[in-house]
Amino acid sequence: MSFPKTRLRRLRYNPILRNLVSETSVSVNDLIYPIFVCEGENIKKEISSMPGQFQLSIDNAVELCKTAVIKGVKSILLFGIPAEKDEHGHLACSDSSIVQRAIKSIKKECENILLIADICNCEYTTHGHCGTIIDGDVDNDSTLETLAAQSVSLAKAGADIIAPSDMMDGRVGIIRTALDNAGFEKIPILSYAVKYSSAFYGPFRDAADSSPTFGDRKTYQMNPANTNEAIREAEQDVFEGADMLMVKPALSYLDVISKVKQNFDLPLVAYNVSGEYAMVKAAATNNWIDEQKIIMEIMTSIKRAGADIIITYHALEVADILNKNK
Ligand code: PBG
Repeated sequence: MSFPKTRLRRLRYNPILRNLVSETSVSVNDLIYPIFVCEGENIKKEISSMPGQFQLSIDNAVELCKTAVIKGVKSILLFGIPAEKDEHGHLACSDSSIVQRAIKSIKKECENILLIADICNCEYTTHGHCGTIIDGDVDNDSTLETLAAQSVSLAKAGADIIAPSDMMDGRVGIIRTALDNAGFEKIPILSYAVKYSSAFYGPFRDAADSSPTFGDRKTYQMNPANTNEAIREAEQDVFEGADMLMVKPALSYLDVISKVKQNFDLPLVAYNVSGEYAMVKAAATNNWIDEQKIIMEIMTSIKRAGADIIITYHALEVADILNKNK
């Protein structure tokens, strides 16, 4: 027995030493902040299930982006709430659609910002599903066409990264080809490669007005019980040309993050989703938890599991905490 020569507590007494031997760190450079952009002017409507997050008209989205950049959060993920919807989500592909216009305005007024465009039809379809419905189900191959057109349109608007979240088979390859053919071979694809069919997306669907009006997303999003399938999903996307991979949600899927990281060398993103955020906010409002400490413990756990980058609604709060402790 090595005790008492080995005393693991020795490295824990001095806070500077604790920091020195820390195996995991969280930096503002690791964070992506998701925002919701809507039509209109001077709109800032709080999302009731996501306190502190808002539906923002473009003018206010620009201001929020400026604030984020000042805090050091320079990567923004954009979701759109269009004024109109249709069966196929065609509006998502229009150069004058909400996210396209938001990207142009933000790029004009903010320097030093990275804009990531979420690619999916669910915010743009009347039925709320992520693609075109044929025989009561989302039709994979016809949905690929709108996803490719949406990607090119968003790249044209100035998106720096294209991030498909729809979970159709073959979308990364189709989008890669479409981007290349349109002259956007330098624009990377961040694939929501491993996206589970999760109840943790509930508050997001309030925020983005994207709940399916019938059925659920189980025929395209993954079964939470599976991890071998996560590897197959990631493998397929890497094969089709993905530049970065994502696991989503994060907290109930830390094992999946770890497994994907062990199997692939691509930068790995974890999405700390709306339901995870809402639970922290609800508990904090009741003073049941120390919110700032909980937020940092959550961020650390996601990085410790193997994520390189975290998409989180807490991004600005994390930046404030990190900047305060500098
Ligand atoms: C669009 C999309 C969703 C989220 C990101 N992109 C919702 C869904 O798949 O139903 C969820 C994000 C969150 O919960 O924070 N498909």
